[in-house]
Amino acid sequence: MNNIPKLWEVYKDYFDIGAAVNLETIKGSKELLATHFNSITAENDMKFVSVHPAENSYTFEAGDELLAFAKQHSMKMRGHTLVWHNQTTDWIFEGENGETASRELLLARMKSHIDTVVGRYKGSIYAWDVVNEVIEDKSDVWLRDSRWLQIIGEDFIEHAFRYAHEADPDALLFYNDYNECNPEKRDKVIKLVKSLQDRGVPIHGIGLQGHWNLSGPSIAEIREAIEKYAALGLQLQVTELDISVFDYEDRRTDLTAPTAEMLEKQANRYKEIFELFREYKDVITAVTFWGAGEDYTWLDDFPVKGRKNWPFVFDEKHEPKTSFWRLVDCSEN
Ligand code: GLA
Repeated sequence: MNNIPKLWEVYKDYFDIGAAVNLETIKGSKELLATHFNSITAENDMKFVSVHPAENSYTFEAGDELLAFAKQHSMKMRGHTLVWHNQTTDWIFEGENGETASRELLLARMKSHIDTVVGRYKGSIYAWDVVNEVIEDKSDVWLRDSRWLQIIGEDFIEHAFRYAHEADPDALLFYNDYNECNPEKRDKVIKLVKSLQDRGVPIHGIGLQGHWNLSGPSIAEIREAIEKYAALGLQLQVTELDISVFDYEDRRTDLTAPTAEMLEKQANRYKEIFELFREYKDVITAVTFWGAGEDYTWLDDFPVKGRKNWPFVFDEKHEPKTSFWRLVDCSEN
């Protein structure tokens, strides 16, 4: 491990190399993280449910510890995430007696949440996923049905960005989503971002989550998405990259190790994908994996609970896989 190229260093003229972390992985994967990554994102510890369990109670201990780890190892830190339909506690949507909060109350609470969280990490966290996953996957529906949308209306998105900008005018503000290379969804993301730009809303980037697999999205689809998003004049970051060895529909549970064929396909995918990212180094400013070593990935529980997955370039023992070497080789071409 000590004699191999450092991933962040190999890519230092292209973009940052990040990893999502939690309180366990900054200990168990400390060496791996400190050696190969120059940016981190809190996997869960800065989400609404983690930092703001009740109206007058904030819990920043975990987030603070992750930030301290980043500083100690001279890493950047991305913030994730402020407004989302998921992992958000119900209290924010409820009034005094359990009835639904009014638009005004919810907006005031949103502002207070964003002020407090972004304000706390002002000057330390350089970029925030301000709004996460508000575009609907179904083709005939525009925005995802959520309590934010139901109570406030479409402009909850715009307000979130404005509040974040007020809380830290120097932070880069991102819209983040998955299935971002699917042409229909991509065009909806573009429509959303354009409408924000037309109204002068401070938005600086689009986050492509990048929860991909061995068969999709195709390089052509990724390229087209990058081109179209970049044409909006924003920077792009890949925020949650992992390449599952199983297609989404594949529910097999018979494997205790990845097959040689899977590993070879995955290595080629990583190579092609990073070659493409390198071509767009002027617009892509960071590529963050949603984890680091394969001893821990959220994909071990999704979409099949308890099924091991092997989506990264470092294995369960934190050793470099063939995928790692393809990333290193392709950077030397
Ligand atoms: C989404 C969210 C992430 C994470 C993943 C699954 O992509 O943005 O925070 O919850 O789902 O782990």
